[in-house]
Amino acid sequence: MERTLSIVKPDGVKKNVIGEVISRFEKKGLRISALKMLHLSKDEARGFYIVHKERPFYDSLTGFMSEGPIVVMVVSGDGAISKVREIMGATNPKEAAPGTIRADFASDIEHNIVHGSDSVKSAEYEIPFFFSSIEIV
Ligand code: RTP
Ligand code: MG
Repeated sequence: MERTLSIVKPDGVKKNVIGEVISRFEKKGLRISALKMLHLSKDEARGFYIVHKERPFYDSLTGFMSEGPIVVMVVSGDGAISKVREIMGATNPKEAAPGTIRADFASDIEHNIVHGSDSVKSAEYEIPFFFSSIEIV
């Protein structure tokens, strides 16, 4: 059993696809172990995406991630990290495989609907960023 952190980003909340994202995870046998909606400040978004602090898109990414509410969740199951990444599709929706969340709903590389931890190490940083141990079932 593996745990990963997924986020329905502000564009996904605006496009009303929270349920669609969760449903796609559930249909692949993954389980939702924790879930909440919140609105990040710019500083909180900077903290969450600190690994990207040197990247040219860091300021616009953290601006976007703090522009509206998001839904954060812990997703659990065998191979949850790679399964969620597969269901999400490539970062750039133009390169995302047909039938993935990003191919179906994302408008461009920056506004790509969903986040998923990319490794065990990332999940170990990202899950406690949002959830304490008693909030995860
Ligand atoms: P995420 O972390 O959100 O799950 O996305 P990812 O792993 O597929 O992509 P990553 O390389 O970690 O980039 C994080 C987010 O930054 C934005 N981005 N913009 N303008 C650009 O070239 C660019 N590259 C990345 C995207 O919102 C991406 O999801
Ligand atoms: Mg990433």
